[in-house]
Amino acid sequence: MCGITAYLGSKEAAEILLGGLARLEYRGYDSAGIAICNKGKMSVKKKVGKVKELKSIASTVEGNIGIGHTRWATHGEPNERNAHPHLSSDSGFALVHNGIIENFIPLRESLMRKGYKFVSETDTEVLVKLIEDVMKSTGLSLEEAVRQALSQVVGAYGICICSRDDPDILIAARLGSPLILGIGEQEWFVASDASAFLEYTRHVVHLNDGEMVVIRRNVGYQVSTTQGTTLNPAIVELEGTLDQVKAEEQEEMQIEKGGFKHFMLKEIMEQPVALENCMRGRVKQLVGPPDNQFTLLQRLQVLLSLEREILTSFQSAKRIIICACGTSWHAGLVGEYMLESLCKIPVEIEYASEFRYRSVVLRPDEDIVMVISQSGETADTLAALRHAKQAGCLVIGICNTVGSTIARETDGGIYLHAGPEIGVASTKAFTAQVLVLAMLALRIAQGRTIPDDEYKMLVKELSKLPSRITKILSENEAKICEIAKVYRYAHHCLFLGRGYNYPVALEGALKMKEISYIHAEGYPAAEMKHGPIALIDNLMPVVFIAMQDSIYDKVKSNIMEVRARKGCVIAITDEGNTELESLCEYVIHIPKVSECVSPILTVVPLQLLSYHIAVMRGCDVDMPRNLAKSVTTE
Ligand code: AGP
Repeated sequence: MCGITAYLGSKEAAEILLGGLARLEYRGYDSAGIAICNKGKMSVKKKVGKVKELKSIASTVEGNIGIGHTRWATHGEPNERNAHPHLSSDSGFALVHNGIIENFIPLRESLMRKGYKFVSETDTEVLVKLIEDVMKSTGLSLEEAVRQALSQVVGAYGICICSRDDPDILIAARLGSPLILGIGEQEWFVASDASAFLEYTRHVVHLNDGEMVVIRRNVGYQVSTTQGTTLNPAIVELEGTLDQVKAEEQEEMQIEKGGFKHFMLKEIMEQPVALENCMRGRVKQLVGPPDNQFTLLQRLQVLLSLEREILTSFQSAKRIIICACGTSWHAGLVGEYMLESLCKIPVEIEYASEFRYRSVVLRPDEDIVMVISQSGETADTLAALRHAKQAGCLVIGICNTVGSTIARETDGGIYLHAGPEIGVASTKAFTAQVLVLAMLALRIAQGRTIPDDEYKMLVKELSKLPSRITKILSENEAKICEIAKVYRYAHHCLFLGRGYNYPVALEGALKMKEISYIHAEGYPAAEMKHGPIALIDNLMPVVFIAMQDSIYDKVKSNIMEVRARKGCVIAITDEGNTELESLCEYVIHIPKVSECVSPILTVVPLQLLSYHIAVMRGCDVDMPRNLAKSVTTE
């Protein structure tokens, strides 16, 4: 979960590399570095911390070929020695890497026996010395030595290499980590994702696993397998209909903070628009006599390219297995509740990292596997996808990042269209994921497992979600800031919910943990009695999602159990429900909504609460410590 950039052309590489790294910083930001070749010299600049620190020492480096890296440490702590790029012993070539070389220890030991010295603790430097050793021992060219070295490593990599001794060549290869080639006028770009060079070109080649590209100045690029088989992949233009261009221009604009203090706050506030975009062309008002009916329309078919087949597969599926990580897993858990109750299909929700190593009994004729991922690059979820495909299962994806590896490798899928999510803490992607799961469940259930009036009522509910979120954001932020002020120094926090809102309790706790560093736990409210209640005292804020739904009375009793132990209760409940005022320190009222879509509303106050507490604690909200936006290593 590092960010990689590379450039070869006639422009000054430093500006392009540093600009690209700033765009990729959400992938990892504990240290950064660049290497640029010029007039037979290799200049390397590295700095601990954000890209802007590196900029202060590297923006004037001259040369028009180079590589860059922003790091999320896996092997060796964040310091200048472990920062990338890593160099060969004679500084003849430099390499940046995103991924993990799993067999780096035995490789390092055999290289050390040959006399190689290592300046860092990284697995990456081992790959550098291995390439160097192959060149020395075989006389092969850098390109061929890279091929041979890669055949000896186990693990995942996205790498870029530039050479002082041959400043007209750039080499890149991928296995398990994303890498994309950008093609300009006599200039070439390589990066972990296109946002790093979008402003220069929209012509790209997606590199697939096991592929390598060699770029030569004034000649061009050649893609091949790492074994050497020449490939001629299609060049994709990252543009399409006018709408898409507008969307991308909007996307460009959105990349900037749009006047908000943090991307996270911007993305929380963007949720009404994000959900409208997510429903555009999918939930449509049919203007017609007599009753202005709402329905899910054709547009869904365009998205589910194998629509009829996939819909039939869903409708005849004996089981749906949802695989995901983190916040996407929480959305999947809401999806489990929805698909079971609306479609009457058994659903299992799996942590992708466990799914791929557990001996899950998969029945390809009966099971459909769904993978949910905002970034579309999460290594564990990608591995779960491949595991299910290998077993012959139909694999459907729900992704936000267009053209991501997961989106490209599934049999079909649904994009969120929520716009880029830059803040590491996922917010609008969560509500859009739950919305897509609701639309899918209704599409599967329509005319089969739910009565038509319930179907129409729920579709109507969906169409009202954007305005209801706008209401929650405008009416509650001040109160939530007040609550945040009171509890900003809490050491622990509990989030409790039941039914559809149990996953929201988990999500609220995750948001609190990842951006404010307060230890928080989410639980099914009833489960509290079986242990966590021991944690309750008059210092413990306990956040309840207590909507007036089918299990409201049970939640109310759980609130009383916490009150009895002097816990400080903050409750989220429906507008007009006054009976909790006497039981809670704070009550946040949100619009009434049907139980199965309520998670899309109830999570919003929790996003704001963790955001404001983190800001008041002076935390780096958009780039919380130890985290990265997309986790591309296992
Ligand atoms: C959520 O705020 C975190 N950033 C993290 O848990 C994230 O949801 C997880 O890494 C999954 O990412 P994905 O949706 O991009 O696959």
